[in-house]
Amino acid sequence: MNIEGSVALVTGANRGLGKVLAEQLRAKGARKVYAGARDPGKISYPGVEPVNLDITNAADVAAAAKALGDVTLVFNNAGVAPFSPLAADASLEVARAAFETNYFGTLRIANAFAPILAKNGGGALVNMLSALSWITFPSLGAYSASKSAEWALTNALRHELKGQGTLVVGVHAGLIDTDMVAAVDAPKVSPEQVAAAILEAIVTGREEVLADETSRRVKAALSSEPGPYL
Ligand SMILES: NC(=O)c1ccc[n+]([C@@H]2O[C@H](COP(=O)([O-])OP(=O)(O)OC[C@H]3O[C@@H](n4cnc5c(N)ncnc54)[C@H](OP(=O)(O)O)[C@@H]3O)[C@@H](O)[C@H]2O)c1
Repeated sequence: MNIEGSVALVTGANRGLGKVLAEQLRAKGARKVYAGARDPGKISYPGVEPVNLDITNAADVAAAAKALGDVTLVFNNAGVAPFSPLAADASLEVARAAFETNYFGTLRIANAFAPILAKNGGGALVNMLSALSWITFPSLGAYSASKSAEWALTNALRHELKGQGTLVVGVHAGLIDTDMVAAVDAPKVSPEQVAAAILEAIVTGREEVLADETSRRVKAALSSEPGPYL
């Protein structure tokens, strides 16, 4: 589908990949871009309409769905990555918090906006996943589990929304150069490159984006013995 003339909602659009996505959508001719943020006052760039949207808050999401009935593209970008071991005292709280945003928040947005996408001709729903949907690291177990669940959610939504003509896209990447992994000293792909790959997938109708070499390598290794997750 075309980006030109579309009406997009990007969650977590005040910084990181979400901000770059919103900017590229505008640059490629989206008619309107709603920039969701927990604090819309932090939307510090022009050309978008700030929206108060904490994806863990049911009232925020319901209000957004009521107000934004013209949306044709939904980008479930907002996410959190707690760096904390699972075999630790506070791990239940950490895991619940990761799932509350990455899984239930994504699901809440999908539930609220699927009927709007249907009404507007199908459109597209993009879920920002990770190479860590498939592998994990010692301090990122809760994050990986939430992204694995979000991957399964994405695949289920693809089946469920096919009938209404909605393209459901799952996006995987290794390290992206944003605040989320600022403390990690390793090669990173730029958010500009990831955003461009996502928008290209929408235009060409691709359901999965492997946005960098890491995600491509991890996926290719899943059938190896031993698996890449061991
Ligand atoms: N960076 C990476 O290496 C990497 C790799 C693969 C996938 N990803 C995924 O890419 C997506 C974007 O991450 P990023 O790298 O841009 O991270 P980031 O720079 O940390 O930005 C995260 C964004 O999500 C927002 N957010 C967090 N919880 C929210 C909530 N409950 N409601 C609404 N917004 C919320 C944050 O808002 P505040 O400013 O209010 O906190 C911020 O705008 C995430 O889903 C992440 O898991 C990232």
